Amino acid sequence: MARLANKVALVTGGASGLGRGIAQRFVEEGATTVITDVSEQGSDVAESLGATFLSQDVRLEEGWQRVMADVVERHGRLDVLVNNAGIFSSCPVDETPLDEWQRVLDVNLTGVFLGCKYAVRQMKQNSGGPSGSIINLSSVVGLRGQLGGAAYGASKGGVRLLTKTVALENARIGIRCNSIHPGVIDTPIMDPLFAAVDDPAAMRARIEETLPIGYMGDPTRDIGNLALYLASDESVYITGAEMVADGGMTIGLP
Ligand SMILES: NC(=O)c1ccc[n+]([C@@H]2O[C@H](COP(=O)([O-])OP(=O)(O)OC[C@H]3O[C@@H](n4cnc5c(N)ncnc54)[C@H](O)[C@@H]3O)[C@@H](O)[C@H]2O)c1
Repeated sequence: MARLANKVALVTGGASGLGRGIAQRFVEEGATTVITDVSEQGSDVAESLGATFLSQDVRLEEGWQRVMADVVERHGRLDVLVNNAGIFSSCPVDETPLDEWQRVLDVNLTGVFLGCKYAVRQMKQNSGGPSGSIINLSSVVGLRGQLGGAAYGASKGGVRLLTKTVALENARIGIRCNSIHPGVIDTPIMDPLFAAVDDPAAMRARIEETLPIGYMGDPTRDIGNLALYLASDESVYITGAEMVADGGMTIGLP
């Protein structure tokens, strides 16, 4: 039997990168999968995967209410939410404009809070009793410091502890919440970094050289399969956990 048979899953930021890879594995394993995104590219991506698309800006509370109502009206329940939508930012703390700090926190942390809020409300109402799995995309930068990571690291560190609170509050009723902490995964989130240098290939090689495993991760294989495990009933005893998929980045200094 497919590993997500009879489950209804919602993946934010599903138009690109990790969200797309996660949605692909969910569809392959039998989940009725809805992706949301601010990018209308999500519509074509959903069609190519066999998912459905809803336009959503995760920062907006009324958007969450609308999306959740839409998913329940179409599919009757919500079993899995992946709070994946996110943006990257890199700037020294003493040069970070307040509006950049706010922009990053709004998407990466407030968006995840709203997702958890409305997913828990719905998962408590699922027919057959409360149940569900919430998966929040943090980062290795949510576990340790990073140069230029004032706003991004604060948002991802916030996601890490928000996840544990959601897990604790709902552990007895079968609603789980875990965070995923990717290292460097090959997605368009890196594009602005590469666009800003003369020799992107050399920069890519330098990044890969710093990774113990020696190469960047793949969205579908390395994060899609981890999210699939957390979404499935194979992981029912795992909640509040920090799942690191980083090719050894956080092992320590050589
Ligand atoms: N790629 C990596 O190396 C890496 C590492 C650690 C953590 N992450 C995290 O994984 C998640 C996905 O990153 P990715 O690499 O796939 O990035 P990506 O840029 O490829 O995809 C992110 C998606 O989120 C969408 N999005 C942005 N703002 C949104 C909003 N306000 N509402 C709805 N959708 C919005 C974008 O349109 C895009 O489709 C992010 O939370 C990111 O911080 C990525």
